[in-house]
Amino acid sequence: MEDPRISPVKPRLGREIILFLLPLQGHITPMLQLANILYSRGFSITIVHTHFNSPKSSNYPHFNFQPIPDGLLEGQASTVDFIALLMLMNVTCVGPFRDCLSKLLSDASKDRIPCCLITDPVWHFTQAVADELNFPRMVLRTSSISSFLAFCALPLMQEKGYLPIQDSRLEEAVPELPPLKVKDLHVINSKDPEDVLRLIIAMAETMRASSGLIFNSFEELEPTKLAECRRGFPVPIFTVGPIHKLSAASSGSLFPQDRSCISWLDKQERPKSVLYVSFGSLSIVSEAQFLEIAWGLANSGQHFLWVVRPGSVRGSEWLEVLPSGFLEGLDGRGYIVKWAPQHGVLAHPAVGGFLTHNGWNSTLEAICEGVPMMCMPFHGDQRVNARYVNNEWRVGLHLEYKVERKEIEDAIRKLMASDEGEEMREKIKALKRKADESLQDGGSSCQSLQKLTEYLVSF
Ligand code: UDX
Repeated sequence: MEDPRISPVKPRLGREIILFLLPLQGHITPMLQLANILYSRGFSITIVHTHFNSPKSSNYPHFNFQPIPDGLLEGQASTVDFIALLMLMNVTCVGPFRDCLSKLLSDASKDRIPCCLITDPVWHFTQAVADELNFPRMVLRTSSISSFLAFCALPLMQEKGYLPIQDSRLEEAVPELPPLKVKDLHVINSKDPEDVLRLIIAMAETMRASSGLIFNSFEELEPTKLAECRRGFPVPIFTVGPIHKLSAASSGSLFPQDRSCISWLDKQERPKSVLYVSFGSLSIVSEAQFLEIAWGLANSGQHFLWVVRPGSVRGSEWLEVLPSGFLEGLDGRGYIVKWAPQHGVLAHPAVGGFLTHNGWNSTLEAICEGVPMMCMPFHGDQRVNARYVNNEWRVGLHLEYKVERKEIEDAIRKLMASDEGEEMREKIKALKRKADESLQDGGSSCQSLQKLTEYLVSF
């Protein structure tokens, strides 16, 4: 399956890249997109993946897929403590991954010469395996550079006393990490906060020992953070984003997409009149928060398309918590789906705003379509992304962690129907132009991708 947006596929180089997927949607998607881009540059692609959250290989008949056992016991994969799960898999996957990689290397032929392993940095154990097999490993970090650096600074934040976060200090600025406030520091829910620090330290150390870092970002978006990253990580660094613009849309989606929402958008009469609402693949809200969001949307008087993932409201299967007649009472102003074709939605002329959790993929996708945001971050890198969207790039409104109907209603009106919202729309259009330019011939991401290709061939 060739994607029409990828430049004509180059002749096969006889070189193979082996990519190891981290089994979470927000990480699978950009890794498969990078694989597609490298394929279009002439590399053969092998995807190593765990049984847990395995990708749909039928969407990628041009790749070789190698499943490995993840060593998880029944029920362990369904935990919501992702940090504990990832720490565990960094242990249980060592043997199966080593066996798989060494087999791939020993099966090499003159038409298929493996030249590099690319993994998510969370798979930190892979550096030791690659070293043992004398094989280069690169890292694809799927978050922004800013949030990555803030993440790496967590041990320092603890040392300086910002963590654990105290309620009395939430509004304080963090001078070491401008423009962040104490309340924006990564909160990653895990039963053992020390696990998070251990994970960060292991990731950072193995990234420094790797053959290079790849970021799904572009130089013009985060120039100072990129420079800072180069100082802290003295290995080759490539910014090749926004990579979804170079690759197949959502064929890496773990959930079925409901395309009926595109027909609903087609029927909207006014351009930029619909607020798109989605909180990504992992966020979970309480019943009370869900109802605050629902009433905020309803009371705003604006049209909205809302993605409610089954299981994303704690204690409910799907929409049971909504008062009966809620949707009917909106007179066609609202539409709810379980999972949307997000790229198509954001690119639709009827969409004028995005209420988002600011996962990095969603944030970049909004920038690329010039859709201003309303930021409702939950945890991890989302908080950093939201602060940058609001304070640095000024292309969105921050709800400041208030999941309250009146705040939401007022912010929607401001974003969709005020001069302030219009200013943000203009700003994000300018950012979109920069993103487009970075991908064009001679642009920063285009050049970085060319250098990455040459670097990979040199191994
Ligand atoms: C996770 C983390 O939560 C996030 O903070 C981190 O930056 C990446 O990993 P997730 O929460 O799923 O990701 O958010 P995000 O990064 O935005 O990725 C979601 C992806 O799912 C996007 O590519 C989006 O286009 C896609 N999506 C989302 C759909 O295709 N349809 C939907 O209905 C919702």
